[in-house]
Amino acid sequence: PLPEPFGVPLPVPPVARPARRERGADVADVYEVEQREGQMEILPGRRTTVWGYDGIFPGPTFAARSGRRTVLQVRNSLTVPTVTHLHGGVTPPESDGYPTDLLLPARCSPGQMHEGHGGRTAVGYRSYEYPLPQRAATLWYHDHRMDVSAPQVWRGLAGFFLVGDEEEDRLPLPGGERDIPLMLCDRSFEEDGSFRYPAHGHDAFPDGVLGDVQLVNGAPWPVLEVTAARYRFRLLNASNARRYRLRLVADGGRRGRFVRIGSDGGLLAAPRSLGSVDMAPGERCDVVVDFADFPVGSRITLGNAAAGGGMRDVMRFHVVRKGRDDSRIPACLAASFERLVPNRTMPVRAFDFRRTHTGEDRQMWTINGRPFSADTVLASPRLGSVERWRFSSDFHHPVHVHLAQFQVVARGGRAPDAGDAGWKDTVDVRPYEVVEVLARFAGYKGRYMLHCHNLEHEDMAMMANFQVV
Ligand code: C2O
Ligand code: CU
Repeated sequence: PLPEPFGVPLPVPPVARPARRERGADVADVYEVEQREGQMEILPGRRTTVWGYDGIFPGPTFAARSGRRTVLQVRNSLTVPTVTHLHGGVTPPESDGYPTDLLLPARCSPGQMHEGHGGRTAVGYRSYEYPLPQRAATLWYHDHRMDVSAPQVWRGLAGFFLVGDEEEDRLPLPGGERDIPLMLCDRSFEEDGSFRYPAHGHDAFPDGVLGDVQLVNGAPWPVLEVTAARYRFRLLNASNARRYRLRLVADGGRRGRFVRIGSDGGLLAAPRSLGSVDMAPGERCDVVVDFADFPVGSRITLGNAAAGGGMRDVMRFHVVRKGRDDSRIPACLAASFERLVPNRTMPVRAFDFRRTHTGEDRQMWTINGRPFSADTVLASPRLGSVERWRFSSDFHHPVHVHLAQFQVVARGGRAPDAGDAGWKDTVDVRPYEVVEVLARFAGYKGRYMLHCHNLEHEDMAMMANFQVV
């Protein structure tokens, strides 16, 4: 039996505290975090074993600052190898969570020692170093282990990583208890409360694996009591494969609006008011919702118009009181926002995302006709350059590029959608559509990847390398 919707209060993941702060030349916030099993009550009255950072799902939120080094010392106390990737991070290649750079369990059986696939393997601990030479943005971290990211994220290995900076601090946006990260993902459960993930390969799931319980911050269809005031929600689609078309609908059918203020790569130049927000796996969207638009007592449902049945509901807001609101949404959010303009000298590269059949009903997910291979490099952009990349596809593929941030300049030969605005690291490429982006390769030289963020497609080899030179 599935839980009643809107019966569970919305949880907010705890903010991690650094184990120490290093000062002087080596200034850094150092966190110790342990990947381990934990018991959580996700469905009322049931126990779910999660694989969590610090044993919880979502994992703790890391609150970091632009330009200030953050170090995650990850200990693996699970029974399987892991890889941690900071999604949206401008990270040196050795800390970027390449899928074969395994972190083996602290108590590792000898057989597992050989699982490195030629990657940089560590046993027990690994320090991931994030210098964060980037703007304020809502990032997230998650497992990225070769072939099994999908089931390992499904079991709980994901959390928020928020980068702040002074430009954002100066804005009068809603803050404190009115600045809330919302991780949207779907899961399925067995009778006993354990997560249900299909046991046999991903081949049977061309669309990826979908669940029948909608979670927000790990709780099923939760409810949040709010003041009649502005709230900032940092929306993250952390689902393996589910897409959202988010809408706000009050009792009686009255529609609410979102003011979109940020995208994957931080604040937009200017806010945009939207009636719905589309999100593919991996994408983030920062919005402000003003509950003063509704009378006290209103119940407002956040719904997903891209889903059917019970999955049409996501969560509910209940306006319970009036309150003071000193926040504002300024007409200019980011004066420093730099809009990239295409020019003829930019290198152009094309990446085609396509399914191929390899006899016997086996399907492979390929980029430019090849399944992933660690030794193949599809592009070698220069450090500091901007390139024009074209993504085409036969299917719905959320395309994610590591390291680089990009801006969408065309979709299907037309101007980009409202949801394409701002700096992005993930863009949804719809069936038979070409999406053109301008990508800046700043930060570090080395090998990075681009891939489909439908996690089942990713595990079926829809990944490729590029090398920043
Ligand atoms: Cu969110 Cu390569 O991943
Ligand atoms: Cu895909």
